[in-house]
Amino acid sequence: MKLTIGCDHGGRRLKDAIVTHLEARAIDVSDIGTYSDDSVDFPSYAEEVAHQVVSGEVDLGILCCGTGIGMSIAANKVAGIRAAVVSDCFSAQATREHNNSNILCLGERVVGEGLALLIVDTWLDATFGGERHERRLQMITDIELKNES
Ligand code: RB5
Repeated sequence: MKLTIGCDHGGRRLKDAIVTHLEARAIDVSDIGTYSDDSVDFPSYAEEVAHQVVSGEVDLGILCCGTGIGMSIAANKVAGIRAAVVSDCFSAQATREHNNSNILCLGERVVGEGLALLIVDTWLDATFGGERHERRLQMITDIELKNES
């Protein structure tokens, strides 16, 4: 599995911890930054990770910012992205099983590192349930197609 991770200054420490954790799990992770505490604009990182996911360059993406919310709003503007902000393990599992989410968004100011790493593991280890959920994902794709500019 290949995965790309990105963050802004608000999620940089959490991003670094997740990279270390994924490498320990022998997951092929590409880190697009940011790499310092200098203030940066999260939408650029969200767009880059989203493009890598929809192009098939990587299987999944993870985005960290202060809340996870800005990253998810930006990533979900890219057609084909289903980015989910998660702060508990139940939702992490459900959003893979039901929504087949392809980007996980986490807020460094919301969840502690220990919980965040459990959320990452839960999300990565869950699988899409298909069946009725497939129909609902197709309905989301239809919304994208009807509203493209
Ligand atoms: C940056 O201060 C903060 O706004 C950002 O990390 C994120 O929380 C936005 O949603």
